[in-house]
Amino acid sequence: MTREFSPEPVDPVLIDELLDIARRAPSAGFSQGVHFVVLSGEQVERFWSVTAADEWFSGRRSGVMQASIIVLPFAVAREYTARYSEPDKIAFGLDDAANWPVPFWLTDTAMATQNLLLLLEDRGLGALYFGVFEGCDVFFRELGVPDDAQTIGVIAIGHRAATDRPSGSPRARGRRPLGELVHRNRW
Ligand SMILES: Cc1cc2nc3c(=O)[nH]c(=O)nc-3n(C[C@H](O)[C@H](O)[C@H](O)COP(=O)(O)O)c2cc1C
Repeated sequence: MTREFSPEPVDPVLIDELLDIARRAPSAGFSQGVHFVVLSGEQVERFWSVTAADEWFSGRRSGVMQASIIVLPFAVAREYTARYSEPDKIAFGLDDAANWPVPFWLTDTAMATQNLLLLLEDRGLGALYFGVFEGCDVFFRELGVPDDAQTIGVIAIGHRAATDRPSGSPRARGRRPLGELVHRNRW
């Protein structure tokens, strides 16, 4: 993660290109109910103020607020249940969201989001993925986001400042040993 961006703007056309690659993530039933709202210019300013994220970051990591672009990923369950209502899928009984053992609209959105984070890194850009703030509901309504679109987080994007240093939780806690997490042949 990058937590200090430089003021240099990011080309929005590049973000569109990367999103077109990022969305080629696995998609249950190829439902593709993964949406992105891309904010630039004044809308980025508005994101910080309406959601009160500026209050949080200004005292901690003000460099985050230099982000040039913000991408908001959303999952739409309705588009998955509609897909699973089609003749080739109806037998699974997943035409009702309550029947899904795993909400694949969330996993699909997370996988596409991770693709974007990797692509940004590959292109030499920086990004911070973080959780949504309370004021987001108001802001999303203002943006015309459908009520049933589910947010999974926020991606702030920019050029990494020369002074950016590793920060956040990984500085305070180590990476867990692989053997604690990878279980071979049995847990
Ligand atoms: C769901 C989620 C929420 C996060 N929220 C924040 C946040 O509010 N502020 C922040 O600085 N980092 C946030 N992060 C970033 C994590 O701290 C970071 O990815 C993790 O510590 C690993 O650091 P690295 O990606 O730099 O290796 C969040 C990550 C996830 C997955």
